[in-house]
Amino acid sequence: MMKIIKAILKALGYEIVKFASGVPASTHTFANFTNVISAYEKLFQENQQFFFSANPSRTVLLARLRGTPPSEAYFIIKSLFQTKDVEGDICEFGVAQGETSALIANEIRESEKIFHLFDSFAGLSDPTTEDELKDDIFSLGSMNAYKGKMSYQKNWVLSRLDAVEFPQKRYSLHEGFIEDVIAHEQNLPEKVAFAYVDFDLYAPIKTALEFLHTRTVKGAIIMIDDYDFFSTGVKKAVDEFLQANVNYQIDVPSSDFGHFAILHKKQS
Ligand SMILES: C[S@@+](CC[C@H](N)C(=O)[O-])C[C@H]1O[C@@H](n2cnc3c(N)ncnc32)[C@H](O)[C@@H]1O
Repeated sequence: MMKIIKAILKALGYEIVKFASGVPASTHTFANFTNVISAYEKLFQENQQFFFSANPSRTVLLARLRGTPPSEAYFIIKSLFQTKDVEGDICEFGVAQGETSALIANEIRESEKIFHLFDSFAGLSDPTTEDELKDDIFSLGSMNAYKGKMSYQKNWVLSRLDAVEFPQKRYSLHEGFIEDVIAHEQNLPEKVAFAYVDFDLYAPIKTALEFLHTRTVKGAIIMIDDYDFFSTGVKKAVDEFLQANVNYQIDVPSSDFGHFAILHKKQS
């Protein structure tokens, strides 16, 4: 029966494609993506003199990312490698549906680091006067229209962590608006080696940075997504934080890689 179906499809110019890990494994599209990724990895290694250890799931997870371009994801991966011997845990502030979380979890699975994931699961919080709409990414017309957008279910994140076989005892999900979580939760990370901050707006980013300042040591890295993109509040929060705290070096890669800033802690 299957042979007949295949023959009919073939005659019509179609083929049946088997899906693996949610991504069509045998399409030319994915093969092409794999090819670009391995060439990019090689170039990145030559130019930055930085060597990634091989990771078979990485390409599939890069292909699944939403909103984070693979070129930016490689800066996350590089930062995870650079901080693997720095004391502290790994954090993601703003996890949405958990695709970037799955990428991070897959990279740190063999380490002993704990992964802390922070999200309201109620979408973007209230923009403040510092948040002017710079790039209308969803064409909503105003900053206020973004309140509550990007809201996803917590279960999606849990299933993504499960799919990459990240052990339950190695992660902690902090649910709620960041201001409340930091003020009231007991099991916050004591030390942080790497954090990816992706809250999109001034106030929660400022809160996350001020919290991280108290939990990071020399060598820690904080990456902030959407720097100088979407809301003016993101750059403002980062720049004000750096003015008040001189012990960081900021690196802003070309926007061809994405819109983000990387803070390196020079001293504790
Ligand atoms: C851009 S999405 C994160 C995307 C995710 N990092 C990724 O790469 O796929 C922003 C997330 O931040 C969360 N968020 C925004 N403001 C928040 C706040 N004040 N407290 C907690 N979570 C917040 C939203 O619920 C949303 O899931």
